[in-house]
Amino acid sequence: MGRLRSSILIDASDGFDCSMALRLMGAYPAWWPRWLRLSKFVCYLFALFVGCVVLLIGLNLFFFWRAPPDGQSPAFYPSPKGGSAREWADSYAKAAKMVRQMTLPEKVNVTTGIGWMMGMCVGNTGPVERLGFPSLCLQDGPLGIRFADNITAFPAGITVGATWNRELMYERGKAHGLEAKLKGVNVLLGPCMGPVGRSPLGGRNWEGFGSDPVLQGIASAETIKGIQSQGVIATAKHWVGNEQEHFRQSNEWLTPNAISSNIDDRTLHELYAWPFQDSVKAGVGSVMCSYNQVNNSYACQNSKLMNGVLKDEFGFQGFIQSDWLAQRSGVSSTLAGLDVTMPGDGLWWADGKTLWGPSLTTSILNGSVPMDRLDDMATRVVAAWYQMGQDTDPKLKDGPNFSSWTNQTIGLIHAGSDDQTKGVVNKFVNVQGEGVTFHSTVARNVAIEGIVLLKNTDNFLPLNRNGTSQASTTNTTASGINVGIFGSDAFPDPNGPNSCTDRACMDWTIGSGWGSGAVEFPFLVSPYEALQRFFNNHSTVELSTFKSNKLTVADLKDTAEQQLCLVFVMADGGEGYLAVGDVKADRNDLFVQKDGVALLENVTDKCGGDVVVVIHAVGPVSIESFIDKPKVKAVLLANLPGEESGNALADILGGTENPSGRLPYTMGKSLDDYGPAANIIRMVTPKQPIPQQDFTEGLLIDYRHFDHYNITPRYEFGYGLSYTTFALSNLTIHNYKLKSALPDPRPNSTANPPTYDTKIPSIDSAIFPLTIRQLKKYIYPYITASDARKIKHITVRQPPATPLSPAGGAPGGNPSLYDIFVNVTATVTNTGTRDGKAVVQLYISLPTNFTDPETHETPMFPVRVLRNFTKVALKKGENTTVDMALTRRDLSYWSAVRGNWVMPTVGDIGIAVGFSSRDLPLKGVY
Ligand code: BGC
Repeated sequence: MGRLRSSILIDASDGFDCSMALRLMGAYPAWWPRWLRLSKFVCYLFALFVGCVVLLIGLNLFFFWRAPPDGQSPAFYPSPKGGSAREWADSYAKAAKMVRQMTLPEKVNVTTGIGWMMGMCVGNTGPVERLGFPSLCLQDGPLGIRFADNITAFPAGITVGATWNRELMYERGKAHGLEAKLKGVNVLLGPCMGPVGRSPLGGRNWEGFGSDPVLQGIASAETIKGIQSQGVIATAKHWVGNEQEHFRQSNEWLTPNAISSNIDDRTLHELYAWPFQDSVKAGVGSVMCSYNQVNNSYACQNSKLMNGVLKDEFGFQGFIQSDWLAQRSGVSSTLAGLDVTMPGDGLWWADGKTLWGPSLTTSILNGSVPMDRLDDMATRVVAAWYQMGQDTDPKLKDGPNFSSWTNQTIGLIHAGSDDQTKGVVNKFVNVQGEGVTFHSTVARNVAIEGIVLLKNTDNFLPLNRNGTSQASTTNTTASGINVGIFGSDAFPDPNGPNSCTDRACMDWTIGSGWGSGAVEFPFLVSPYEALQRFFNNHSTVELSTFKSNKLTVADLKDTAEQQLCLVFVMADGGEGYLAVGDVKADRNDLFVQKDGVALLENVTDKCGGDVVVVIHAVGPVSIESFIDKPKVKAVLLANLPGEESGNALADILGGTENPSGRLPYTMGKSLDDYGPAANIIRMVTPKQPIPQQDFTEGLLIDYRHFDHYNITPRYEFGYGLSYTTFALSNLTIHNYKLKSALPDPRPNSTANPPTYDTKIPSIDSAIFPLTIRQLKKYIYPYITASDARKIKHITVRQPPATPLSPAGGAPGGNPSLYDIFVNVTATVTNTGTRDGKAVVQLYISLPTNFTDPETHETPMFPVRVLRNFTKVALKKGENTTVDMALTRRDLSYWSAVRGNWVMPTVGDIGIAVGFSSRDLPLKGVY
């Protein structure tokens, strides 16, 4: 028996006649030539074939038998039409005029990308040249223009969040927007406000602004206003729940379906959707739906999220575009509210097959998609173009002047197709600004204010140029000291800052995380280069460098000779399509990487003098192993500083700038302290082949979790030191309005969406014109004559209309949500010896044990939540009054029962003002 089994499976040479076995199994017919029958090769081949079939069947059983469960995300139909808001009315009137003249394929062209690498940008829509509507160039990303030359590599979102400075948020957006326009970009793919940062390990948290919806919302809104002030359409991304990279999209992680983020209605509103609501209120022109599923319905075909929350409740007037290949269905996604598919490719990259293009045309012709849906899709795109003034902007007239696919001047026009037509694709336009408008200055200011001073024993920082502490009374003579700079993260990459794809490497200093949110650095000033200039190297400071994180015995000896040791460590992460070593986009733990832990241990033990630690990181890191060591005098978290990294750091170390950054997340002592939400799902199991990420912690992420469970973090959300000190006094709480449970009834729309002829156009109008040369894999809107013959009209019964949300009525939602109920003022005084900037933070606590008298709901409230903040510059000894408003939405929670925001009218609402989420000296109630 045993012999027989092994013979069949592996070996025909031990006497068993493989050909006979195959014959008996019916694997080949009797008439096959003898040589083929006996061939061992055929036997192996057959075994391989059988193996593959079994494997495939197995995989099918494993994955497909567990299709996403249905019905967990409520339906919302039909898709609300754009043009219902006064603020957009003129643009809609112009757009309607243009769209009314478009043919069916022209309308489809506006909504469908022309395919991966078919134009100059990462995404390009089809043009309607006849009417003067261009192919739109869509380009990443949140921190600079991706795949472009002569641009600025601004600090990443997380650094911007750490500034807590609204003006800088706006200025960075504005400079970024101007660069986009000068490169010919119509739609900038940023800012990023999802992930919010549910897990501190999330691979793309650094693209956004921090683990709190209000910080994310304010930073996003300011960025959007800045970008759009330059006439470029901003994109709020990724809508929504893309909180981890593992399994974020179909096929990338070898599973046919993406992860499902299972989020309840209240958590969605109060946490993950909040910054998007702010973005819509700020007038954002585009929103990008994410790869993942939400409640087991893909975000890009989820009618509740797109039709319901975004378009009805938030009153979004722009267009929803898919993340790249996030569209997973044709008709369903169209009806659910998707307006643009990117990059046009369908279920797979670059195979020339799309879910829209000719398929969308067909679905209109056969009646499965109503004509007015397509009209609305096209109108939303054209209206956003008018809304930003792109129709008249001479800078956008000629399209993009750079190519994402080559650095050469001459290159392929349609790099993704077989077409060999070449032309000038790179004009190398310098868009970095100059003189007072040099964008590097903005980048440097953000990097400076994004540095968080975590520890500074006895005012050890700032330093003199001779390496001693400015606070030291004994050692400030001209004579310098031995200063050691340790760690690969201090030094420039010898192969240049762009030596690896989309910045996916961590061998040398990091200025950003990796992925589509990274750019080609025009330059990257490393800490070492700037510090070399800062220290009076030649005359007094003996500077030694230790570039490897693994210190040799000789290095350790030298370490003991140093009187000042500056240690640089980092923690990197990025987007799901790239991995560095064992860091598969999401981080594995909170530790610094690349032997940084050992480096820290060695230097903090062996340094002959004082130690200053500098951390570049995509998120919180554990600093428990060294933070309390007496030699560690100062610790700086420099986040991800962009091109001006070293200069900004030297400004802070040397005291020409006073640190004013505050933590945009909690620095916990261990990963466990963040609770179960911190865990990234990294495996599929037979039980969960479509990973289910249940957001059971609800609102309790980051500091809300720490506060709720009374866990002491190392440094709390909002924390940061300064070289001066500040005090708060004189809290006043002005009650402008009496509490009332619900906002005013939803108001009527302030404008009427345009109307169109709903008749289905003739099939002939959609047939591929003979005059067009068809490029391989390029996505066209036309159907072939033979497909045209197969079209049969289908009568589709439309689902009953979903009632409109009482929380809607205008961009940003019901305007009454933004009524100011309370105004809080306080006096902040600079009590120290230096000029500096204070960040004053306002938190509220909704009443404990609250029961809604009408619905009898007993919602749980986080201990406190951030609701407002302001940053003020104060000279030493100076004081000022800060002023912060609280709106109805700020003072409400989302009731899933009422489907509305509810302000608790029973019990006190606590108001606390201070310098961090746990340093709140002023307290009062409303
Ligand atoms: C990312 C998006 C990005 C797009 C285009 C996707 O993989 O998730 O953030 O905008 O690629 O580069």
